[in-house]
Amino acid sequence: MKIFLDSANIEQIRQAKALGAIEGVTTNPSLLAREKGDWKKIVRQICKEIDGPVSVEVLATDSVAMLAEARDIVKIAPNVIVKVPVTLEGLKTIAVLRERGVETNATLVFSPNQALLAAKAGASFVSPFVGRLDDIGQDGMQVIEDIMTIFRNYDLPSQVLAASIRHTNHFFQAALLGADAATVPLSVLLDLVKHPLTDIGLAKFLADWSAKE
Ligand code: G3P
Repeated sequence: MKIFLDSANIEQIRQAKALGAIEGVTTNPSLLAREKGDWKKIVRQICKEIDGPVSVEVLATDSVAMLAEARDIVKIAPNVIVKVPVTLEGLKTIAVLRERGVETNATLVFSPNQALLAAKAGASFVSPFVGRLDDIGQDGMQVIEDIMTIFRNYDLPSQVLAASIRHTNHFFQAALLGADAATVPLSVLLDLVKHPLTDIGLAKFLADWSAKE
């Protein structure tokens, strides 16, 4: 499973990159809005830092305007991919971008049917939002599992990118199901390495070593 960082903060991205596990970055309008300065400069900086795909979302809601934004977004860096919400207009946009050879990440996916349509339209990545489904009392991981099954059934080439990952168990379950990628906030990435037995074991090794005669 590829690991992406869900952040637009360059310091967080550098911190995650230093761990050697980050293969891409996902941003969204909320994450970019938190950062001071020109968003294009921020994205350019992120794209220099990370070799893999960096998702940048369109803000327009109609296909013509989405395509105009996508034209600007792809000029920022060669590893930028265009994030498009799964609406009727978004699907049209994804289909046109596929014809133009532009990589896309279909976002705000909450059902297997939306995921199937996004895959048919030619999205490179399809991003189901696990945490936000859990928030409304649904089972986000079940949606990932269903999408994985459907994509396998029909040999669809779109990659499943588990998004809205809120804790380490979401990450673990996504990996167990065979999700192609998961995007995680830095807090979850750092939690992945923690285990009390590692801390206890390390403390014991150090104590035993210092007691050595
Ligand atoms: O980038 C999209 C997604 O990961 C957002 O997560 O926690 O705001 O639902 P969250």
